Amino acid sequence: MIRSVILGSGSALPGAAVTNAQLAERVDTSDAWIVERTGIRQRHLAGENDTTSSLATTAAQRALAAAGVDAAAIDLIVLATATPDQTFPATATMVQNNLGCNGGIAFDVAAVCSGFLYALGTADSMLRTGMARRALVIGAETFSRILDWEDRTTCVLFGDGAGAIVLEAQDGAGNDRGVITTKLHADGAHNELLYVDGGPSTTGTVGKLRMRGPEVFRHAVVNLASVLKETLASSGHTADDIDWVVPHQANSRILDATARKLGLPAEKIIVTVDQHANTSAASVPLAFDTAMRDGRIKQSDLVMFEAMGGGFTWGASLVRI
Ligand code: UT7
Repeated sequence: MIRSVILGSGSALPGAAVTNAQLAERVDTSDAWIVERTGIRQRHLAGENDTTSSLATTAAQRALAAAGVDAAAIDLIVLATATPDQTFPATATMVQNNLGCNGGIAFDVAAVCSGFLYALGTADSMLRTGMARRALVIGAETFSRILDWEDRTTCVLFGDGAGAIVLEAQDGAGNDRGVITTKLHADGAHNELLYVDGGPSTTGTVGKLRMRGPEVFRHAVVNLASVLKETLASSGHTADDIDWVVPHQANSRILDATARKLGLPAEKIIVTVDQHANTSAASVPLAFDTAMRDGRIKQSDLVMFEAMGGGFTWGASLVRI
């Protein structure tokens, strides 16, 4: 049986951190409100020369270095983003060209904040069916470009960044390292709760992010608890078996509520929302890379990735590191 094993991770953040207090100088908000309602303390915002592809390329290079894999060995790049450099071609093809590994498969997936889970599930399926041997799975965003900086209910919540992992198809006999199972869902009935009010085939503009936060919050807690239970049940594991949960970093209150529903202790949840804010598709691999590099997540740990975002889309993936 073939398993998709994580060989290494990397991440990239643009520029210096922008604190809540700095944001409050240009937006009608306060550090106290943002911290109390979201847990966010700072975020990184893309500078003039930063793009989704430049952040993704840096994260990919760091993941390749951590994995000890040469870019030439990569034959699949799946990049999750809702903020591509151009409407087309796919940002993944730009990363491929930057890395100098042209010729393999490269494409983007659009599942907003669940994008990394969708990308991971897609890459895992392709590796297990033999379409490719070594993949880069990337989540990269420059959400600051689609924020309405006049709308304090959304602009304080998001940040920019990228995270990447290297996956390799390995013979799974003898151990259970690699992606064990991934469960993905979508429910297109909730477009008006979280969307961008523009696009190539409608307005011909890029548009700005719109969100009805409290409604999204309620759906997030229910959907995440449900998909986490589904993922555990399908793999025959219990919440007690999990060493670490690496969740989408939207709001620390969502992380707490989901953990409580599953009976998971807060110490097992990797939290980076305070440092990075919500970086959409980049948030799960950014949090994962943070915990890999500071030594919390180690080889053979059982890790649950989970995310929920616009669409709605949501999913979870159980992985033995
Ligand atoms: O990544 C995809 C998934 N996204 C999410 O999961 C986001 C989910 N939603 C949330 O995280 C929360 O709903 C928010 C953080 C967006 C909002 O928190 P909330 O506790 O639900 O606040 P609220 O929207 O109910 O607003 C409470 C008050 C309002 O004032 P009034 O009407 O009570 O007087 C807002 O106008 O807070 C006010 N407010 C602000 N005040 C200062 C809203 N934004 C701000 C702000 N600064 N930035």
